[in-house]
Amino acid sequence: MIETFFTARPNQIGSIAVTILCTLFVLAALSGSYAASPEETSDSTVAEKTPYPPGELGRVVRLGESLVMETHSHPLTRPYVGNHLNCTSCHLEGGKHPEAGSFIGVAAAYPAWSGRESKVITLEDRILNCFIRSQNGTRPENGSEVPVAIATYITWLSQGWKLQMNPKAPLGPNHVEPLDASQFTADPKRGETLYEDRCAFCHADDGAGTDDGPAVWGDFSYNDGAGLSKVPKLASWLKVAMPLDDTDLTAQEAFDIAAYVNGHARPKFSPSEKRGKTDSAGK
Ligand code: HEC
Ligand code: HEC
Repeated sequence: MIETFFTARPNQIGSIAVTILCTLFVLAALSGSYAASPEETSDSTVAEKTPYPPGELGRVVRLGESLVMETHSHPLTRPYVGNHLNCTSCHLEGGKHPEAGSFIGVAAAYPAWSGRESKVITLEDRILNCFIRSQNGTRPENGSEVPVAIATYITWLSQGWKLQMNPKAPLGPNHVEPLDASQFTADPKRGETLYEDRCAFCHADDGAGTDDGPAVWGDFSYNDGAGLSKVPKLASWLKVAMPLDDTDLTAQEAFDIAAYVNGHARPKFSPSEKRGKTDSAGK
């Protein structure tokens, strides 16, 4: 039924939406759990059940979703992207994945303190940081169509989450669970063997990517200022995200592979070049 809603012609949407809302209301009332909080339902269920808002707001949510899915090819974001990645390459399922770079609930954590920048940043600032580091690109202007649309999409995925500004880090309630680096000694040699067995058929022996997976090192990957360029961060993300259809790495294997992957050359992060002329924060 939700799918019908998404594919319906605009003039049908109103009445279908009313039907859906009434049905959801009745179902919820019957089960005695109307307005279930995100804690009571699984995170991805919340995202799937949330209809797009009506009117212009809904259009902008959908635009943000498209930019997250097609960052490297979409005409609005292409000029700001310097590699072959999309936001969804790391924020799996467009950020609807409950653990691997989840966007669910993220908007409720901002403004937040960023130690990396020694200042309080907004959700838009956080989005723009992924452009210059993870996307190895430049910053679209703060307040322009791209960050506004992506922030609108992330906020839509955060509805129902209790506002809880983060005083420690620019991270939302479902951020990647960090593995304790002090417990593991990463061995890139073991990582190489594991990479060839578990990763190379999608990401290629030379890390340049295939039709089944994007580049993990080299010119078209994230730069050395990106979160994933740090071995513990990559290991923690791999543990919940890769191999894509079979996330069964042990923490030790994740560290070994992360050390091997990040042992290769990748683009250099240069703050002054990347910030873009229009960004006053770059001065
Ligand atoms: C190369 C991988 C990668 C790509 C591509 C990427 N990101 Fe990220 N992003 C990360 C990592 C890693 C984090 C830190 C997440 C964590 O620790 O849970 C992060 C964090 C974030 C956060 C903060 C999440 C939170 O929990 O508060 C936002 C917002 C964000 N990214 C937006 C984007 C957007 C928008 C794009 C596309 C323009 C993008 N990212 C592209 C890897 C990536
Ligand atoms: C079945 C194919 C497949 C396998 C196997 C696989 N990946 Fe991926 N990987 C993907 C896809 C596809 C994406 C992008 C996700 C998307 O667009 O939905 C991705 C994304 C990534 C990313 C973030 C984006 C980038 O390219 O930097 C990294 C890092 C990564 N994979 C590493 C690995 C590692 C390490 C392994 C082995 C443990 C692995 N993958 C196994 C398909 C795969």
